[in-house]
Amino acid sequence: MAYETILVEQHDRVGLIRLNRPQALNALNGQLIGELNAALDAFEQDRGIGCVVLTGSEKAFAAGADIKEMQVFSYPATYLDDFITSWERLSRTRKPVIAAVAGFALGGGCELAMMCDFILAADTAKFGQPEIKLGVMPGAGGTQRLTRFVGKSKAMEMCLTGRLMDAVEAERAGLVSRVVPAAELLDEALKVAKVIAGMSAHVAMQTKESVNRSYETTLAEGIRFERRVFQAQFGVADQKEGMAAFIEKRPAKFEH
Ligand code: CAA
Repeated sequence: MAYETILVEQHDRVGLIRLNRPQALNALNGQLIGELNAALDAFEQDRGIGCVVLTGSEKAFAAGADIKEMQVFSYPATYLDDFITSWERLSRTRKPVIAAVAGFALGGGCELAMMCDFILAADTAKFGQPEIKLGVMPGAGGTQRLTRFVGKSKAMEMCLTGRLMDAVEAERAGLVSRVVPAAELLDEALKVAKVIAGMSAHVAMQTKESVNRSYETTLAEGIRFERRVFQAQFGVADQKEGMAAFIEKRPAKFEH
C-alpha cells in the first residue's frame, strides 16, 4: 500500500514506521492515523515481523493532533463519529512496539508514544500535554496514561499548565526507559527491537500481554494470569530450546 504521511521499512524482523508530515511537525490528522493503523495491521499479520519501532523526525515525534483539521470540529459530530477512538489501534497491537522519540512529543504525540510498550528518548526529546492552552484537555489517553507513568502530581501539573518535560526529567519520572544521544536514537531503537524480535515470538507477545495486565486488574488476578501463561509456555518447543541452549552454552534459536 502506498502511504503519504508515513514511511514504512523492514529491517530483518523489525518493522519501522516513521511519521512523515515534516511541514506540520508530524501533526496527527485523520489520514495519518488511518495509514498508521493500516501499517500496524500489516505488521501484525506478518509472521516475519517480531517487533515494531514507531518514530518521527529529528525535530518532532509528533506535535499533537492536527489543530488545523480539528479547529472546525463540533459536538455532537465528534461524539457521533467517535473522534479519537481509531487512535487506540496502536495500544491494541499484540506485537511489541517501541516508540523512538526525538524532539517534540506533544498532546496526541505524547499520547501516541505512551500507547507504545516503552519509550526510548533522544536527549532532544520534549514531552507535554499542552491541550489546555487550546481550550481542550488531552483526548487520546493523556490524563490516564501520563498519570500511570509519572504519578498524579506531575501529570496534574503538566495537564493543567501545559508545561513541557525534557528527556532528563522524563527518564527520572519513569516516562521513558532510557535517554540516548539524538544521533544514536534510531540505531539504538532498531538494535533493541532486533533483540526482542529474536526472542520466541509467542513468549514476547505473552510477556507484553502480562505486563499490560498489571494496569487493568488486581495484583492477585494479574499474578494468576501470569502463572497460567508461564505454565503453558512449558508446552511449547521454545522452552526446551531456550533452556537447552543455556545448558549447552550456545545461543538459542527460537521458532517464529
Ligand atoms: N497541528 C497542526 N499544525 C501544527 C501543529 C499541530 N499540532 N504543530 C505544529 N504545526 C505546524 C505549525 O502550524 C507550522 O505550520 P506553518 O509553517 O504552516 O505555520 C509548522 O507546523 C511548524 O510549527 P511552528 O512554526 O509552530 O514550529 P516551532 O518550532 O516554532 O514550534 C511547537 C514548535 C512548540 C511544537 C509548536 O508548533 C506547537 O506548539 N505546536 C502545537 C502543540 C500542541 O498544542 N499540541 C497539542 C494538539 S491538541 C491534541 O493533541 C489533542 C489530543 O489530545 C488528541
